[in-house]
Amino acid sequence: MQPITILAIESSCDETSCAISRDGIILSNIIAGQAVHEQYGGVVPELASRAHMQHIVPVVDAALKEAGCTPAELTAIAFTQSPGLIGSLLVGSQFAKSLALSLDIPLLAVHHMQAHVLANLIPDRATTAAGSTADQPSPSAPRPLPSFPFLCLTVSGGHTQIVVCHSPLKMEVIGETLDDAAGEAFDKSAKLLGLPYPGGPLIDKYAREGNPTRFSFPEPQIPGLNFSFSGLKTAILYFLQQHVADNPAFIEANLPDICASIQGRIVSILLNKLRRAARETGITDLCIAGGVSANSGLRLSFAKMGRSEGWNTFIPPFEYCTDNAAMIAITGHYKYLAGNFAPLSASASARAEW
Ligand code: KG4
Ligand code: ZN
Repeated sequence: MQPITILAIESSCDETSCAISRDGIILSNIIAGQAVHEQYGGVVPELASRAHMQHIVPVVDAALKEAGCTPAELTAIAFTQSPGLIGSLLVGSQFAKSLALSLDIPLLAVHHMQAHVLANLIPDRATTAAGSTADQPSPSAPRPLPSFPFLCLTVSGGHTQIVVCHSPLKMEVIGETLDDAAGEAFDKSAKLLGLPYPGGPLIDKYAREGNPTRFSFPEPQIPGLNFSFSGLKTAILYFLQQHVADNPAFIEANLPDICASIQGRIVSILLNKLRRAARETGITDLCIAGGVSANSGLRLSFAKMGRSEGWNTFIPPFEYCTDNAAMIAITGHYKYLAGNFAPLSASASARAEW
C-alpha cells in the first residue's frame, strides 16, 4: 500500500509553518516566526499577512527538503482553516488549495484548536530523540502517548479550554475562558512590567529565579470548569501602580519575584480547574497543549499534580507546543484515514465552531 504523505500548512497567527508527515510520523516541521510585531507590543494583523506571503514559499521548500520528499510523492494537503486572523489564514489556505489543485490530490481542512490537542498524539520521529519533558525524561525511549478518552488543557494566546478527547476527531469542550486567554494573561502582565511581546516566555525566564510566594494575587471564583483572567490583570495593574508610586524602581528591583508570583497564580488557576475536571469526569489520562504549555512552571506543577492525583500526564515536545504545522499534519492524517476531505471551495474562517 502507498504511504500516506501529507504536506501541512499552519498560518493562523504569526508563525508560518510547514510540516511533512508519512503514515503519521513527522518528517519535518519548519517554523518561521515574525519579529516585525515586537516593536508594536502585539501581533499587527496586516503585517502578519504580509510576512506569511514572504515566508510561505521558502518554508514549504525547506519542509520538503528536510523530509527528502518531492511534491509528486504527496498524498494530500492539510491546512489550518480556523480559527485565527483572517488575513493570515487566507495566505495558508489559498496556498494549500492551489497546491492541492495543481497536484490533483485531496485537501484536508483542520481546526487549529483540535490540532493543538492532537499534538499530544504525535509519535517521536523515527531518527531523533524528541520529547524530553519534565516528567518524561528518557530521550531514548519512545514517548508514551495518551489513551482515549483523555482530558486536555489547551492554553494558547487566544484560547483556554478543557477538552475531553473521545477519539482523534471527536472532542468536547467542557470548560473555557469567559474573557482573556491564559497566554493573554501572561502577555498583558508582561506588558505592564515593560517587557516586550510576546511576554509569556520572558515571565517564564525571570520566574525561574524568583519566589512565587513573595506577592499574592487573587484567584477568581468562577463556577464550574470555566476560567477568567481579566480580574487578575486588573489586580496586577493596581498592585504595580501602588508599588511604583512608592518606589519607582520597584519593578526592576523585584522582577523575578513578581514574575514568579504572577506565573504561580496563572498556573494555579489553570490546574485547579483541570483537577476539578478530572475528578468530575473520572478521566485519568491528562494532557496539556498550546503555546502556554511550553511554560516551565506549568509543566512542573502539572507533573507534580499528576503524581499526587494518580494521573498519567502527557506534554507534547516543545516544538509542538507553540504554533506549528506538525500538529496540522497529524490531524490531517486522522482526517485522511476517516475520508474527511474538504472541497476546494472550503473557506478560511476567523471563528470556528467545534
Ligand atoms: O499556541 P500559540 O503559539 O499561539 C496561539 O494559538 O495563540 O500560543 C502563543 C502564546 C503567547 O501568549 C505566548 O506568550 C505563550 O503562548 N507562551 C508562553 C510561553 N511560551 C509561549 N507563555 C508562558 N510561558 C512560556 N514559556
Ligand atoms: Zn495556537
